[in-house]
Amino acid sequence: MAVTGYRGEWLSVPLDPAVAGAAAIRHEPDGLVLVEDGIVVARGPYEVLAPTLARDMAVTRLPGLLVPGFVDAHVHYPQIDRIAAHGEQLLEWLTRHIFPAEAAFADRGHADAVAAFFLDELLRHGTTSALAFATVHAASVDALFEAALARNMRIVSGKVLMDQGPDTLRDDVASGRTDTEALIARWRGRGRLGYAVSPRFALTSSDAQLRDAGNILADHPNVLLHTHLAENDGELAAVAARFRHAADYLDVYDRFGLVGSRSVFAHGIHLGTRELARMTACGSGIAFCPSSNLFLGSGLFDLERVAGHGVRVGLGSDVGAGTSLSLLATMGEAYKVGQMRGASLDPFRALHLATAGGAALLGLADRIGALEPGQEADFVQLDAAATPLLARRTAGLPLAERLFALQVLSDDRTVRSTWVAGRLAHDRDRPRTPT
Ligand code: GUN
Ligand code: ZN
Repeated sequence: MAVTGYRGEWLSVPLDPAVAGAAAIRHEPDGLVLVEDGIVVARGPYEVLAPTLARDMAVTRLPGLLVPGFVDAHVHYPQIDRIAAHGEQLLEWLTRHIFPAEAAFADRGHADAVAAFFLDELLRHGTTSALAFATVHAASVDALFEAALARNMRIVSGKVLMDQGPDTLRDDVASGRTDTEALIARWRGRGRLGYAVSPRFALTSSDAQLRDAGNILADHPNVLLHTHLAENDGELAAVAARFRHAADYLDVYDRFGLVGSRSVFAHGIHLGTRELARMTACGSGIAFCPSSNLFLGSGLFDLERVAGHGVRVGLGSDVGAGTSLSLLATMGEAYKVGQMRGASLDPFRALHLATAGGAALLGLADRIGALEPGQEADFVQLDAAATPLLARRTAGLPLAERLFALQVLSDDRTVRSTWVAGRLAHDRDRPRTPT
């Protein structure tokens, strides 16, 4: 297939700047990325690569700032219609707002419609990959994967295991296993999809189901484990009351074989030193979800402490508890949480968390997140003049300040275009008319 070139200001942050310093940042103010069959085959300054190009090669100029497609390390697609639900902390919010919304996914037609809307919204916000919760219904995963396959997006998901959930939303150990095995057999390895064994959290599964989830994980070396951990005070109290013999919350999962290098835990706000050391030793990761943590009053994630222990961290929107699908806006919320903790998050580090950091959490660091040669060509064209205020605030600013303004002031308008494996998937100025 033909090679296509994309010329513009390219920025990626393959490594954590808090560890690697300036070497973490890759920036070409006038750069060229060459793409063949959806894969980046070369990247460098335009003046260096231009003389090597075939005379008739197509080069597209993309004004603005070009960054890797965002990786949402934790989001719930069935909750998109319950974003901004008033008045509760986690456990009551689940009961009052979320479980009724998820029960509607027993209807496959509903799941198809929401999955299509959700993925198109991700693309409008520059997100090309996500680790997403579905619902307890196997067909909710079929709906999401079918829609993701049609858009060639990198989506990792799985049927929620919750045999202790409400009556309207409950499986059992046997059906949980059968459905999970069938979904893995049906979907793993197709397109750019991946599977995650997904017990909702410790409180909604029996011991037997948590044990079975550990067995499924052990049987399938290529799937992830995706669940919630140490998020909110009410949850912590209920977990401590039920699992009296566990050393702490992480130990609950550990006893069932759920803590390992393929485990992604959402939140991890309230963790002790033992838990952080154990996560580091096992290579587990945390999805930091700042807008959700503020919205539900869950607490202030301590990035310095967690990353200082060597725990891997990515960034999650956690919609519907999160308040925006924009990972740029989520980077802005992460900055504010950092300020409350006395640490001002560097914008390049924030971009790393939202791209390569999340990719590493999903076990996809070799494929996505940094636009290195050999990686898939998922990228986003950002417009620092998307609104009159942004244009005024960013005019003439150097890169770090421009990126920070984008981080604090962004919404979907900032994303001028989104490219999935080298193909235009969203164009802000030429929106597709819904069919
Ligand atoms: N813990 C268990 N389920 C959920 C959920 O749907 N959202 C959040 N934020 N936390 C959870
Ligand atoms: Zn969540």
